[in-house]
Amino acid sequence: MEEKSNGSEIISRKLLRLGALAAIVAIALPVFFGYGHRHVFDPVELQELAKRGIEQGKGNSTLVISSVTELVKERYGDHIFDSPRWMFNNAGGAMGTMLVLHCSLSEYLIIFGTPLGTEGHTGRFMADDFFTMIVGEQWAALSKAPLREVYAPGDQHHLPRGVSKQYRCPGECWALEYARGSIVSMLPFGFADTFTSTLDFVSLLETIQVSAGGILRELLRGKV
Ligand SMILES: *[C@@H]1O[C@H](CO)[C@@H](O)[C@H](O)[C@H]1NC(C)=O
Repeated sequence: MEEKSNGSEIISRKLLRLGALAAIVAIALPVFFGYGHRHVFDPVELQELAKRGIEQGKGNSTLVISSVTELVKERYGDHIFDSPRWMFNNAGGAMGTMLVLHCSLSEYLIIFGTPLGTEGHTGRFMADDFFTMIVGEQWAALSKAPLREVYAPGDQHHLPRGVSKQYRCPGECWALEYARGSIVSMLPFGFADTFTSTLDFVSLLETIQVSAGGILRELLRGKV
């Protein structure tokens, strides 16, 4: 039997197609923006700044964190937020607190860590992640190897795009974390634990607010 489509069916089908297209564009655009243009930050330079901050802090975590933040601000100027604030971050089962220094569609720079230690999944991203230790140790392991990687202050743990690991901070740990790639594609990982576990919507809103603010700020000055 021949099916007859009435007007409203045709319209709803069109709307559905339009919606699907909009969703694809919404996902693809920011993902695309993560690639192939000039970046503000350089991971080698960030590691140098981290090492200088470690020296200046003389073993005092508070001082190390503020020294690193100041050095980064001196070097990268108004690409760094003026008065960043701390907020909890739960992702991949790990919990810590972070200070967002910069966020755009293609890069973010944060201080991440915890005075207590934590453990979880790194996430598997369409982005490179450079985790430079400034206080304490981070341990990491790939799924294939019964081998523990150990990163001490001054070491930079590079998690290449597409790779995931288990990681652990056995005690207090702080890091200068730089991500480069499709930042929007990383956000769901950063938000998922709120819905499946913490229900801490205050931290979620703070995170959305600061990342959206950073992305807009950088877009307005012509940087993706
Ligand atoms: C570390 O430095 C901070 C800030 O200068 C200071 O308030 C704190 O007492 C120091 N901590 C230790 C253990 O010396």
